[in-house]
Amino acid sequence: MPIHSKIEIIQGDITTIGVDAIVNAANASLLGGGGVDGAIHRAGGPEILEACRKIVARQGPCTTGEAVITTAGNLPAKFVIHTVGPIWQGGQNGEPELLANCYRNALQLAVENDCKSIAFPNISTGVYGYPKDQAAAVAVAAVQAFLKKSTALERVAFICFDAENFSLMQRILQSTN
Ligand code: APR
Repeated sequence: MPIHSKIEIIQGDITTIGVDAIVNAANASLLGGGGVDGAIHRAGGPEILEACRKIVARQGPCTTGEAVITTAGNLPAKFVIHTVGPIWQGGQNGEPELLANCYRNALQLAVENDCKSIAFPNISTGVYGYPKDQAAAVAVAAVQAFLKKSTALERVAFICFDAENFSLMQRILQSTN
């Protein structure tokens, strides 16, 4: 299956998406927060936070660009993959590479857990202030590069909560096909 047919852009709420794994834009503490992090914990229930606490107790905070996997609790997905995006500091502090690592590590974890489908929010483009157009380009490039080298995933969905990210992602995806 050609990689572009595996990638889709959807405008909506990631907590409603029925894929094997949804990705959370978390912070290092993994203890929840606002934005998509808050939405996932609210909709998924306390099981997710409990699993996050166990991970932090075992291996410490989740560093930027890294990803961990937990139960999805009451969500339609099987797993939540929590990753910590870079806070935008102007672009000269390794932000693009760190953001790409979020996508790469989340995809790798999904494959290691036999997932066939995964959904991403627009990591770092909210509270963390990453410019949406630059983040969208990094996200699409990282996903396409991963799908070129690994055929395990059948579906990668970008779930855009806001219209701006939705049109940006569509434009970038169309320009790379
Ligand atoms: N479904 C999909 N996307 C969502 C949802 C949702 N229910 N809610 C928010 N978003 C979108 C935002 O519109 C934004 O485009 O997720 C994207 C990421 O924004 P944030 O959630 O603010 O995440 P981020 O910018 O990575 O900042 C992470 O925010 O919530 C805290 O604990 C989190 O400290 C961490 C920081």
